[in-house]
Amino acid sequence: MNKVLTCSVMGAKESYDIEIIHDALRNQAEYLSTLALRFAIIADDTVAELYGKPLINAFSNSGLEIHLFTFSAGEQYKTRETKELLENQLFEKGLGRDTCIIALGGGVTTDLAGYLAATYCRGLPLVMIPTSLLGMVDASIGGKTGVNVPYGKNLLGCIYQPKKVIIDTSTLQSLPQNELSNGVVEMIKHGLIADKNLFEYLESHCHLLLGLDSEALEMSIFESCRIKKEIVEEDERENGKRRLLNFGHTIGHALERLSQYSLAHGEAVAIGILAESHLAMQLGFLSMDDLARIRKIFMDYKLPLQFPSQFSIESILDAMALDKKSLRGLPRFVIIDAIGSCQSYGSNFCTHVEEALIRNALSEYKG
Ligand SMILES: NC(=O)c1ccc[n+]([C@@H]2O[C@H](COP(=O)([O-])OP(=O)(O)OC[C@H]3O[C@@H](n4cnc5c(N)ncnc54)[C@H](O)[C@@H]3O)[C@@H](O)[C@H]2O)c1
Repeated sequence: MNKVLTCSVMGAKESYDIEIIHDALRNQAEYLSTLALRFAIIADDTVAELYGKPLINAFSNSGLEIHLFTFSAGEQYKTRETKELLENQLFEKGLGRDTCIIALGGGVTTDLAGYLAATYCRGLPLVMIPTSLLGMVDASIGGKTGVNVPYGKNLLGCIYQPKKVIIDTSTLQSLPQNELSNGVVEMIKHGLIADKNLFEYLESHCHLLLGLDSEALEMSIFESCRIKKEIVEEDERENGKRRLLNFGHTIGHALERLSQYSLAHGEAVAIGILAESHLAMQLGFLSMDDLARIRKIFMDYKLPLQFPSQFSIESILDAMALDKKSLRGLPRFVIIDAIGSCQSYGSNFCTHVEEALIRNALSEYKG
């Protein structure tokens, strides 16, 4: 199966394709030769070991020059320092404006290599080849790139759209089960904010998806990418509707940072979605039945339902003050009113919530 979505961001000069193909890596040289003559693949060491060679082999006999640059796998390496190390390696190879960056890997790689592509020689063409489920359905789409700093996640970066996103679902065969579940969290989020059918598909196809059934994966990846790209097309700069994609992330990012990234992004966001759904229930928007369904789907996908007991409510509230939706240090939340729909709050798509309710929701999910 070969499915293509075209992402046309409002006001942008160019649109780009998101291609979902099984076993795609072997056939990319012809397309890539239209972008540049020299290529720098950036991958973490795990993904480089698995897919760096096959991708380089795809270029043999093409006459194109290709280099592979690697960094240590893990969120803790999505930093200014790693970006600088990689940039220096590219300079040492003499790579300049005639080079295309290929980000090969999970969301850490697509964020980091995307940011590098945006700034190196004032911007190089970028192709995303996400290999984690989270990278496929979320991080590689929409143009957000960046790195973490000690003050918070993704606080340095920019919006930089790729030339193409190539999703090769066969790479998921090597993805550890917990990483698969992390990606499912973002698909569940897409269902919760925009599409009840997707949520129900994920509910009813849990065994097939965890068993890496290719039809179920391709179907849910396609629908999830469609939802994300439709939201980004409307609001690339996150002035309104794109905030919906932040559902679960106000609390999720705070938990991720407090855990010093020992909680994976998907795990932290799953707990964040639960707590933020609890807020929606307390505000009288979400029914208790829907909240129970959300809890059950996370259980089915073997995701954590509670944050570590050593995190105080106080520290989570402090960590949320720096959230990008905060106004004067007070966090704002996306509020769902049913599975598949959200409150719009004018065109803000998020709102302040009384602190007592936030404390109450958090205490429900403390381990
Ligand atoms: N830019 C955005 O819009 C956006 C959206 C969501 C998340 N993100 C970012 O994405 C990051 C999380 O992404 P992630 O969960 O993919 O993390 P990741 O890139 O660290 O990948 C998770 C792990 O899986 C490994 N891996 C990846 N593909 C593999 C494969 N096919 N086989 C075996 N192992 C594989 C990686 O080496 C890594 O150890 C976070 O930094 C988050 O902030 C960005």
